[in-house]
Amino acid sequence: MPYDPTSQSNLDQVKTNHIHLDLAVDFTAKVLTGSADLEIEAIADQTDKLILDTRYITIHSVTNDGKELAYELKEHDPKYGSALHIRLDRPLSKRERTTVRVGYSTTQDCTACQWLEPSQTVGKKHPYLFTQCQAIHARSLLPCQDSPSIKLTYSAHIHAPLRAVMSAVPTGQDKSTKGNDLTTFKFEQKTRIPSYLIALAVGNLEGREIGPRSTVWTEPEVLEDAAWEFVDTENFIRTGEALLTPYDWGRYDLLVLPASFPYGGMENPCLTFVTPSLLAGDRSLVDVVAHEIAHSWMGNLVTTENWEHFWLNEGFTVFVERKIIGRMKGKEHGDFSAIVGYNALQESVGHFGKEHPFTALCPCLRGEDPDDSFSRVPYEKGFNLLYYLEKHLGGPEVFEPYLRAHVQQFAGRSINTDEWKHFLYSYMTKHHGQEKVDLLNLVDWDAWLHGPGMPPVENQFDDSLARTCTDLSKKWDASRLAGSNNDTSAFSEKDIAEFSTNQTVVFLEELTELQDPMPHGHLDRMDELYQLTTVKNAEVRLRWQLLCLKADYEKIYPEVLAFATTMGRMKICRPLLRSLYKAKNGAELAREAFLKNKTFYHPIAATMISKDLGLAK
Ligand code: BES
Ligand code: ZN
Repeated sequence: MPYDPTSQSNLDQVKTNHIHLDLAVDFTAKVLTGSADLEIEAIADQTDKLILDTRYITIHSVTNDGKELAYELKEHDPKYGSALHIRLDRPLSKRERTTVRVGYSTTQDCTACQWLEPSQTVGKKHPYLFTQCQAIHARSLLPCQDSPSIKLTYSAHIHAPLRAVMSAVPTGQDKSTKGNDLTTFKFEQKTRIPSYLIALAVGNLEGREIGPRSTVWTEPEVLEDAAWEFVDTENFIRTGEALLTPYDWGRYDLLVLPASFPYGGMENPCLTFVTPSLLAGDRSLVDVVAHEIAHSWMGNLVTTENWEHFWLNEGFTVFVERKIIGRMKGKEHGDFSAIVGYNALQESVGHFGKEHPFTALCPCLRGEDPDDSFSRVPYEKGFNLLYYLEKHLGGPEVFEPYLRAHVQQFAGRSINTDEWKHFLYSYMTKHHGQEKVDLLNLVDWDAWLHGPGMPPVENQFDDSLARTCTDLSKKWDASRLAGSNNDTSAFSEKDIAEFSTNQTVVFLEELTELQDPMPHGHLDRMDELYQLTTVKNAEVRLRWQLLCLKADYEKIYPEVLAFATTMGRMKICRPLLRSLYKAKNGAELAREAFLKNKTFYHPIAATMISKDLGLAK
């Protein structure tokens, strides 16, 4: 029986096998209206009720074969929403199935949806809607058993005035009977998925083919750039297939969203959602696509049972992402990314505090909002555990076949850490015998899985790509120390000319982490040589602005405001506004800019920024 502390559904009695959505998109009222048909199956005898998760959804009716069912929408819980209790008209026995139809509308409070005005899009002419359901926002798009322990297929009819796309395969479109000027877009997802992977976007979208199974979708104004940036998509998929199993989802399309999309990428099946900040013009930020492709196996086929084992999604995905990068560009590139990740892990652990329960690989989430526990910990601590196990057990020759077997064993299922570990032991016993089992017994499982803080073992990564950037940051640091006379004449534009984006990022991050801020004269000189203020690359621009903010370098403030109010990816706007808020003469600027632009941000991002700037609890 599945356990999920963040769902109010009766997961012990019922499972959902399929959902059919029939929804009309109303851009004027900013609501979706229609129905969800849930094909449910009793998993216990005498099942006389169905409890669904909802959040800020209005229920119009509940029926079964056209007959009204009694229901009650319980009180709103601030973290988990309102449970919808439905009385079935007769008790179901185990394995008995039936279909329940819920008529409903979303409201403007629904946290899964962002409705954009035309002015908030690239083209400025048409409105736009997109959803973001992970972790527990699917209940704010449709009434459902909003737990990753439940895996279902889905189909949908979306009646919309502009093109609709979903995390499914499109199966056609017709003139809608629901209203003039509406088209019905039809979809089918035939592989079982958890509710958090249901996704919808509607807008002025055009597509261009970029591979044998891939189309990139976006507003026409950025289509050309998007198609150019993501040409490597098919190579990532093939590398993933060579490492694991054949790609199971039919299509792998990409949707490049408007700038308010709050994440870097979201692995919605058949259609990954990505931030437009990846469009660097030099293909330097496409590792995010490799990451989302890796989720096709880790997360989307093999899914965490609940958010306490989120690392089974993200830690495994980062591990596969770095394997893909390693195979395509060389192991040193995968390891360089691991070094960048380790620094980010240190930053997360520092942010929470090294004893904080959320720094454990498997945190307890009873009574918690998974959005609050979100950090680099499941990604990087999870990655480090797998990297350590691979080396400890004898390297890729032993571990890669195991990884494939893990996918074969668990595809289509939701699992927890115990089941993962149990299979690891049984695989090693069966294929390698007692020698590997003895090695597994030497692992400090309790520290890795439940201990707080940094990992109990520090892995050694190939640092050949890190060394040059570390050397340069040391040189800049030394040039402002006593005896050096602030002499910066030894630096030249050539210093970073050969650097990859990631290397420039590491160089700037290392300077930012130094105790003492950089003198303004140094920042002037660095900018003059490396042209950092005008740089377009979002990752480099972010790090340069953070370095300047740390030094209260007021010249950069207008640039920071321009970036943070036009880029809703939380990884970018949150640290910029937080850092401006702390900088000299920055607090009021940060607050004003945020309040003036509040509707630009996705609801999830707006809530977090309000907290960051002391405007909300
Ligand atoms: N699934 C995540 C995004 C996510 C996690 C959304 C939890 C909501 C709740 C996605 O795969 C992801 O990890 N994106 C990263 C990029 C990646 C390269 C680390 C991001 O958005 O930065
Ligand atoms: Zn991910």
